[in-house]
Amino acid sequence: MVLVARNRERLQVLAERLQREHNIEVQVAAADLSNPDDIVEIAQKIGNQWPLDLLINNASIGSVGLFHRQPVAAETAQIELNVVALVQLTHAVVPHMVAAGHGTIMNLSSLSALPPSPCSAIYGATKAFVTSFSESLHTELSDTGVTVTAVMPGAVRTEFQQRVGEHAFDKVPERAWMSADAVAVSALSAAARGDALHIPGRKYQAVAAAAHLMPRALLRTLARRTAPGQTSI
Ligand SMILES: NC(=O)c1ccc[n+]([C@@H]2O[C@H](COP(=O)([O-])OP(=O)(O)OC[C@H]3O[C@@H](n4cnc5c(N)ncnc54)[C@H](OP(=O)(O)O)[C@@H]3O)[C@@H](O)[C@H]2O)c1
Repeated sequence: MVLVARNRERLQVLAERLQREHNIEVQVAAADLSNPDDIVEIAQKIGNQWPLDLLINNASIGSVGLFHRQPVAAETAQIELNVVALVQLTHAVVPHMVAAGHGTIMNLSSLSALPPSPCSAIYGATKAFVTSFSESLHTELSDTGVTVTAVMPGAVRTEFQQRVGEHAFDKVPERAWMSADAVAVSALSAAARGDALHIPGRKYQAVAAAAHLMPRALLRTLARRTAPGQTSI
């Protein structure tokens, strides 16, 4: 197993725990996947050193607020991490998986990919990209033994809330939250089955079905009402 994130100390602690509890070999690679040089370095390692049979593109960041009031560098860094890194790491792994005749790619999207995301416009757009890209690739690779699964969770209690800003989630009702463990178990089962799209949790599956049936104008009105933070100028 190879773990990639920015904080090396936390990766080491997790790696030691996984090694101890599961008797597996775990490597860590500290990298900032919003930095183009780091993305290339990790992609090269995937291409040359790490024979992966499961790639999980998990790392993402979001931001909350009116688009034109956000620093543009932070918005483009979001695209770099949520989209560019995911594309490059996937591009590096697919040839090996196709040659081996098997492989699994799990891309973390979000339920935010479905409706418009006012006040989180870049995040929503990156997740719409991830869903569309993953489903297309799943279809392209359908005869190869390689599957691509886009996972679209709703609200999950993680450090994401602190990173984006606790108040951004004030409108999410208590009953809507899922645990990270429940989402991970559900997502890994879907990826093992080779599902193209997966929404963890029956409640969120119902929400997604309703969103698909709604006229876009109604969806925009609802999205504006439930958007995080200030929605008007
Ligand atoms: N939480 C939710 O409500 C929710 C809902 C829908 C979808 N999702 C999606 O689920 C995925 C996981 O999110 P999460 O909630 O678990 O977020 P999280 O708690 O903030 O964890 C993000 C992980 O990504 C790593 N990371 C962040 N920026 C990075 C960078 N620039 N380079 C490399 N690694 C980086 C972090 O480690 P370091 O800080 O050490 O780098 C951390 O391990 C994301 O794709 C997110 O969009 C989350």
